[in-house]
Amino acid sequence: MTNILLVGNGAREHAIAETIMKNDKARLFSYMKSKNPGIAKISEDFHLGSYDNLEEIKNFAKANNIEFVFVGPEDPLHNGVVDALNEINIPCVGPSKNLARLETSKSFTRLLLKKYNIDGNPKFEVFESLDGIEEFLEELDGIVIKPDGLTGGKGVKVQGDHFQTKEDALAYCEEVLKSHPSVVVEEKLEGEEFSLQCLTDGKTVAATPPVQDHKRRFAGDKGPNTGGMGSYSDSNHLLPFMTQKDMDDAMAITQKVAEAIYKETGEYYKGVMYGGFIITKGGLKLIEYNARFGDPEAMNTLPLLKTDFVDICKAIVEGTLADMNIELEKKATVCKYAVPKGYGLSKDDPLNQGESGKVEIGDVGNAKIYYAAVDEKEDGIYMTSSRAIGVVGIADTLEEAEKTAENAVNEIKGNVDHRPDIGTKELVEKRVRHMQRILK
Ligand code: AMP
Ligand code: GLY
Repeated sequence: MTNILLVGNGAREHAIAETIMKNDKARLFSYMKSKNPGIAKISEDFHLGSYDNLEEIKNFAKANNIEFVFVGPEDPLHNGVVDALNEINIPCVGPSKNLARLETSKSFTRLLLKKYNIDGNPKFEVFESLDGIEEFLEELDGIVIKPDGLTGGKGVKVQGDHFQTKEDALAYCEEVLKSHPSVVVEEKLEGEEFSLQCLTDGKTVAATPPVQDHKRRFAGDKGPNTGGMGSYSDSNHLLPFMTQKDMDDAMAITQKVAEAIYKETGEYYKGVMYGGFIITKGGLKLIEYNARFGDPEAMNTLPLLKTDFVDICKAIVEGTLADMNIELEKKATVCKYAVPKGYGLSKDDPLNQGESGKVEIGDVGNAKIYYAAVDEKEDGIYMTSSRAIGVVGIADTLEEAEKTAENAVNEIKGNVDHRPDIGTKELVEKRVRHMQRILK
C-alpha cells in the first residue's frame, strides 16, 4: 500500500483525493483546516488543524508512514510545509517556499521571465517606493497594479474595473507600499484568458487540457470577481477561441520557466505550474503563475486522467516524469459551482441573501459532485459561507457536458445560486467573437 497525505479541504482537493483513490493501492490520509465530508469519507484518517502549524502536519505525516504529500492550496506552500516535510525526508508534490514565489511574489515571476528572456511579459516595472511610478504610469495606456505577496486573489486592481484614473492608480500604489515590500505596475492586456495546469518534476513539463474559468459572480460576466464560479474544457484539448499555436506558446513559456527556476535557485520545481495566460493582439502573454491546481479548474482536468495519478505523483517526486506518457480522455467538461446566494457580495448588498443554510442534493445523474465549503451535520449538509459544491458534467461535446452540469446544479436545493451561462453555446460564441475582434 502507498500511504499518501493530502493537505487541503476544498473542492479542488476533493477532486485530487478522488483521483488518488482510483489507484487501488493508495491509502489516503488528509490534513484539513475544516472537515470536507467528501474527503473525510474516502480517507483512512484525517486531522483538522491550521495550515501554518507545520509541526502538526509533520507529526500527522510521521505517524502514518506517509510516502509522499500532495499539497493542494497555496497557503501551506507559502508557509513552507514542503521544506518542513523534506527536513524529515518526506517528499512532496508541491514546491518549496522559495519556489512557491512563482505564485506568492508577482515580481519574482516577472523578473525571472525578463532575466531569462522568456516571452510573455507585458510592459512592467517593480517599485519599492513611489519614486518613478508617476512617470511609468504615463507610459501605459491601461494600468494593472499588483501588490507583491499573497493577497488571496483580492489585491490585483485593473483600470476600468477597480479604479479609473492615473491618480487613483498612484494612490493605490501608495496604499500597497505601506503593507508590502513592493508593487508591480503593468500594462493592461486585452484578450481571452485561459488556465494551463502543467505537472512538472522540474525538468519535464506535462500539460493537461486548457480550461477557461469564470470569475464574475453573475451571468453575462456581471458583478464582482470571485474565486471562480465555474469553468469548461473542450474535447480536443484546446478552447474554442484558441489555436494550437497558443497552446504551444504557453507550453514553451512554462518549459522555459521551469528551466529558469532551476538555473536561478539550483532546485527542481516539483508540483503544478498553473499559468494564467491571455491571448492578445500582440501574441500570448502571461498574467501570472500559480503553484497549485486551479479551483475550479482541477475539477475539469483531473477526472479526465487516464494515466494513474499516484504513478504521476511518484514520478514528480523521483524526477522521472520524462519516462511517463500522461494521457487524458478526449472529453469536454463543464464545472459549475453552487454557491450561497450571498457569496462574493458585500453585507449591505440588497442581493445578499445570506451565506449559509442547509442544502439538499437531488438526482444529479452522471455528473460528478465535489464538496467545498460545506459542513456535514447529523441532519445533512450545510453551507459555510464560501463556494459550496462543484458539479462537473463530462461528455463528448461541450453542449452535452453543459446540460449535465446544469441539470445537476439545479438539483442542489437551498439558499443557493450558480451561473447558468457557463459552458453554454451563447457564452462560448461570445468569447470566440471577442477573440476575433481583438485579433482583427
Ligand atoms: P491575479 O491575481 O494575478 O490572478 O489577477 C486577477 C485577475 O486580474 C486576472 O485573472 C486577470 O483577469 C486580471 N489581470 C491581471 N493582470 C492583468 C493584466 N496585465 N492585464 C489585464 N488583466 C489582468
Ligand atoms: N480559478 C482561479 C484559481 O484557482 O486561482
